[in-house]
Amino acid sequence: MSESLFRHDVLILGSGAAGLSLALRLRQDISVAVISKRELVEGSTLYAQGGISAVMDAQDSIESHVQDTLKAGAGLCDRKVVRHVVERGPDNIRWLLDQGVEFTRDEESISAGGYHLTREGGHTHRRVVHAADATGYAVETTLEAKIRARPNIKLYEQHIAVDLITSRHLQDRREHRCLGAYILNRGTGRVETFLARFVVLATGGANKVYLYTSNPDVSTGDGIAMAWRAGCRVANMEFMQFHPTCLYHPEARTFLITEALRGEGAHLLLPDGERFMPRFDTRAELAPRDIVARAIDHEMKRLGSECVYLDISHRPAAFIGEHFPTIHKRCLELGIDIAREPIPVVPAAHYTCGGVMVDQHARTDLDGLYASGETAYTGLHGANRMASNSLLECLVYSESAAQDIERRIGGYPAPPNVPGWDESRVTEPDEEVVVTHNWDELRRFMWDYVGIVRTNKRLRRAKRRADLLAQEVIEYYSHFRVSNDLIELRNLLEVADLIIQSALRRRESRGLHYTLDYPNKDASQCMPTILIPDFYQPRVDR
Ligand code: FAD
Ligand code: SIN
Repeated sequence: MSESLFRHDVLILGSGAAGLSLALRLRQDISVAVISKRELVEGSTLYAQGGISAVMDAQDSIESHVQDTLKAGAGLCDRKVVRHVVERGPDNIRWLLDQGVEFTRDEESISAGGYHLTREGGHTHRRVVHAADATGYAVETTLEAKIRARPNIKLYEQHIAVDLITSRHLQDRREHRCLGAYILNRGTGRVETFLARFVVLATGGANKVYLYTSNPDVSTGDGIAMAWRAGCRVANMEFMQFHPTCLYHPEARTFLITEALRGEGAHLLLPDGERFMPRFDTRAELAPRDIVARAIDHEMKRLGSECVYLDISHRPAAFIGEHFPTIHKRCLELGIDIAREPIPVVPAAHYTCGGVMVDQHARTDLDGLYASGETAYTGLHGANRMASNSLLECLVYSESAAQDIERRIGGYPAPPNVPGWDESRVTEPDEEVVVTHNWDELRRFMWDYVGIVRTNKRLRRAKRRADLLAQEVIEYYSHFRVSNDLIELRNLLEVADLIIQSALRRRESRGLHYTLDYPNKDASQCMPTILIPDFYQPRVDR
């Protein structure tokens, strides 16, 4: 094997909850590569706070979790998918417990098997299993330890996938299949060829397309952009979720203040101390996220204030310290004692509800290509994801994908050789400033024109700018050697275009998509927004 060609049975792009759980669920005689563009644990999963929703309490029910999810999704969820995911919830929590994840216990909570369940927006029961306020850290680091001990799994950290390799690269018109990916080794600067029977996109969301976000730097929509370029349909990209409460502080760019704080009684206040959410929704602070974020945005604009406040100081200090130790500590470092004073908060881009379309086995439109986690569109979230349903979706779809891959792998051919990455016509980049400038400009106009409240005029303005930047970046990409930042910028621009196109198509306000031009819901538009790429062909299964 040459140094720049690698072959495995399964190639997993991404090492968050979706990627790692899938890798661990595969049989140990299957050779697996996990690719991660930074350190293995870096990704949204690591920073998840609130927890994972699942029906664990005897007084709760599957039906209730299904109904809450459907209601939060504002009429756009796929009912079959919602039921499938919710039903698989308790078993997936048990799987995490078997891996060694230590969720917060409450010995008095007999009906929930001794686990403490918290509450978040949209849920009518306490059903969020958590590890204090650092659930993602507990999940990610536990799975990481398991993965590192698995001899059949090879880890490639600091490797970023550039593009998928498909039959089109062989100019083979008889089949339409994914064969692997071209991947930049960030250490050597070389693009390597990875071939596999099956490829899984587990690359997370695209929230870095906005100026203000709760997400880490890796959330640049790479999987969605790569799948789109390879001919897969994407859906519901207009539904970008803004989390209502990110810390507003100059030294903390992306720090989330979990919704579980509101679940445990925190109130949202205006600068003068008025509690305002009851004016917007009977569920007040526990209304679904789209409603709370919009109310905050409205009040901030009305008053010209830079933030609102979240106050939990009426709960006992010991309770706060026990349930929210991470937030308590981080805020104290910044001079805010949450046990005594309100926390300044603002909404920020948090979650990508749309993504690469998959079926219930997590198969995309391209034979051999799967997608799981935030990068995928399954139909679970509809027009607005309910809190803590994301990690659940990662686990359930990765389980389904692993089962499907195991069923198919015996008779599934290994990919043929493909041409290596061609660098013969590119040179070293001359002006890196093109990348940094366009990156900043993109994120700012997406925030200003494609944010919480939209209009046709703003969207069209954004489209013109996105087209111009895309032209510049594509030109740059075709002349110069690829770098991490260039790959991410190219993908962000692709995803920005998908978001704007989808938002322009939806001529109503529903869930997370709110436009002043069509402020009401329109029953005739109760369907997902599906975008079809140039190379789309209906999948033919083997
Ligand atoms: P991620 O965990 O984001 O992992 C993506 C992986 O893909 C990373 O390893 C990244 O390096 C890699 N990658 C990306 N592009 C490439 C590429 N081109 N090449 C190679 N590797 C690549 N959800 C809940 O359900 N409950 C919560 O409590 C909760 N809290 C949250 C708190 C915060 C602050 C944030 C940001 C999100 C939260 N969410 C929560 C959402 C949830 O954490 C994410 O949706 C989920 O973790 C996504 O998992 P994932 O595996 O799909 O992606
Ligand atoms: C939070 O803890 O508020 C985030 C939960 C989520 O995004 O599901």
